[in-house]
This record gives sequence, C-alpha cells and structure tokens, in this order.
Amino acid sequence: MPNIILLSGDGIGPEIMAEAGRVLDRVNQQHALGVSTEQCLIGGAAIDATGEPLPEETLTKAKNSDAVLLGAVGGPKWDSLPMDKRPEKGLLKIRAGMDLFANLRPALLYPELASASTLKEEVVSGLDLLIVRELIGGIYFGEPRGIEGEPGQRVGYNTDRYSEPEIERIGRIAFDAAMARDKKLCSVDKANVLEVTVLWREVMDRLGQEYPEVELSHMYVDNAAMQLVRAPKQFDVMVTGNLFGDILSDAAAMLTGSIGMLPSASLNSQKQGLYEPCHGSAPDIAGQDLANPLATILSVSMMLLHSLNAPKAAQAIEDAVKSVLASGLRTKDIATGASGEQIVGCRAMGEAVLKALN
Ligand code: IPM
Ligand code: MG
Repeated sequence: MPNIILLSGDGIGPEIMAEAGRVLDRVNQQHALGVSTEQCLIGGAAIDATGEPLPEETLTKAKNSDAVLLGAVGGPKWDSLPMDKRPEKGLLKIRAGMDLFANLRPALLYPELASASTLKEEVVSGLDLLIVRELIGGIYFGEPRGIEGEPGQRVGYNTDRYSEPEIERIGRIAFDAAMARDKKLCSVDKANVLEVTVLWREVMDRLGQEYPEVELSHMYVDNAAMQLVRAPKQFDVMVTGNLFGDILSDAAAMLTGSIGMLPSASLNSQKQGLYEPCHGSAPDIAGQDLANPLATILSVSMMLLHSLNAPKAAQAIEDAVKSVLASGLRTKDIATGASGEQIVGCRAMGEAVLKALN
C-alpha cells in the first residue's frame, strides 16, 4: 500500500495542498490505488511548533514513505532567523536526507496560455523543455563554507564541488530522459572559468558515448540564460548543477506564462520522490484564495507517474487540467484578459479539476 507524506508548509502552501489533496483522494478512489496519506510539518510551520525547520519525525516518515508531496516553505515571519533555522533549510535538509539528487523541472506551455507569457507567442508556442538539475551537491552543500574574520574585514565563502560519481548519476538521469523525449541534451556549465565544470563537461562527454542516439551539446551558463529567452524551443533536455539549475529553471518557468503552472519531481535512486510546485510560498497572497493550485495538482500527476507507477491516473489529472484551461477558467496569475476567460480562486480551480476528473 503506497504511503504518501503531505507537507503543506507555509504561505499559500496549505491552500494549494488542500486542492492537491482532494485531487489525490479522487484519483485514489477512481483508480483504486490504495494510497494512504499522512500530514507532517516542515518549514516555518515546523519552526513554530517544534523549533526546527525539519523535525526528525518528518524526515523519518518521509524516508519510510513512497513519496512526499510538498506545498511551499518560507515567509517574512522567519526571515530574520539564523541561516540554519530558516524554513528553506527544512527543504534543503529533506532533499539531502532523502538523497534526492535528481530534480526534474519541466517547462511546458499549455496552448491556452501562450498569450500569458511575457515573450512573443511565436517564440514560446509549443515549448516543451525539461531541466534536469542536480539537487544535493555543488555550491549549495560544498564545504568549507562560512563567514569569518573581524568585523569590517569579514570574508564569506562557499565551495562548488562535484565528484565524478555525482556528475555521472545526474548525467544518466538526463540522458535517459532525453532518450524518452526528442533525444537532444544540452549540458550547461561554466567550463571556461570553473574547474568543477571542466570535470562536469568531461564526464558528460564520456557518458555521451554510451548514448550514441542522443545529440549532446554543451553551453556556458551565461549563454544558456540568453538562449532561454531568445529561442527556448531549441532545447529539449538541459542538465546542469545545483546553482545554475536553480536560476535557469526560474527563467524557464516564466517562459510558460506563469510559474504557478509548473510541477517538479526530486528523485533518489530508488525512485522515491518529493514532488512540489516550482513556485514559492507567496506570502503576499496567502490566505486570500488567490493562489494557483495547478502546479501542485500537476505535481500529484508527476508523483503518480514516477513514484507510484500509476501512469493512467497521472494522465487523467493532466487531461483534467487541460480541459479546465480549455474551458476558460483562470486564476489571476494566468489570466490575460482575453474574452472567454473566467477568473476564479484557488478553491474553485481545485473544484473544477475534480469535476473534470469525473
Ligand atoms: C527552489 C528554491 C530553493 C532552492 C530554495 C527555497 C532553497 O529556490 O527549489 O528552486 O534554491 O533550491
Ligand atoms: Mg529556485
């Protein structure tokens, strides 16, 4: 019996998770998945209740689960806490604690939303790219790190490092993903400056020989950022390290019109996963029934596909989301003002997806 841990987190987290939870319950019944769920604490909510952004109990339960569904963490209330006690640390710790090295961030443009993008429609229409981001290494986790020295003369530093096995395992995920798509992989680095990425490029080239069908290319990260906004459809799968992936995936998300639409999966080698929307906790709109629950609902779909081996249920959710968009329903973030659009809140959007599932 699959067991799923639900982590609502902060800000709009509880609202979007409520809708995603209802969708999960519905497909659970419809497809007889036998899924059971349990709520646990993370982020600011966990800090308030226990003093820790990731309580031991949450990590233990997450490790013993089949998958974790997460809303979002963070908010101004906790911004002044020391780095180690901030809500974001809860997220970083659960990623590392579950060994979730492979972060899949698809950027898919729904035809109905082509005009919601800030880029010209012809530049983005039909966009379907996948960013594969290494998630538990690189400069996010490298040691040594810190701030040291006398006031006024202090030095802050971090370490960007990747071992060959770390590069190889994320590379394999990316090559395999490319094989299942259009067989094009672009590895993003800064090999003209950073040794860590010289090694990255070398390992990707070596792996490429095992995947002769995949057309492998390399791109410096500054150029990749430019190409993403200039001609994003040249990309199929992109693979990169933790920091570059963080930055490029936000850029890619915005190509699609709204970061409120994009799900993500973070996987370990057992295909255990943590699924979350790409967006943050949006404290400015929390509690006002304004959030877009679709990224979280689509994260449920990714979870069914990657961790629960339920592709039919996953497809049913995707189809339901598409039909809701086709019917003209929009949360505020994806509204364009076109005729035929009807602006709805978070709850009503979730309700519409449930209806479309029937
Ligand atoms: C993301 C977020 C996180 C990251 C933050 C909240 C720690 O920006 O998932 O992209 O930097 O990885
Ligand atoms: Mg980010």
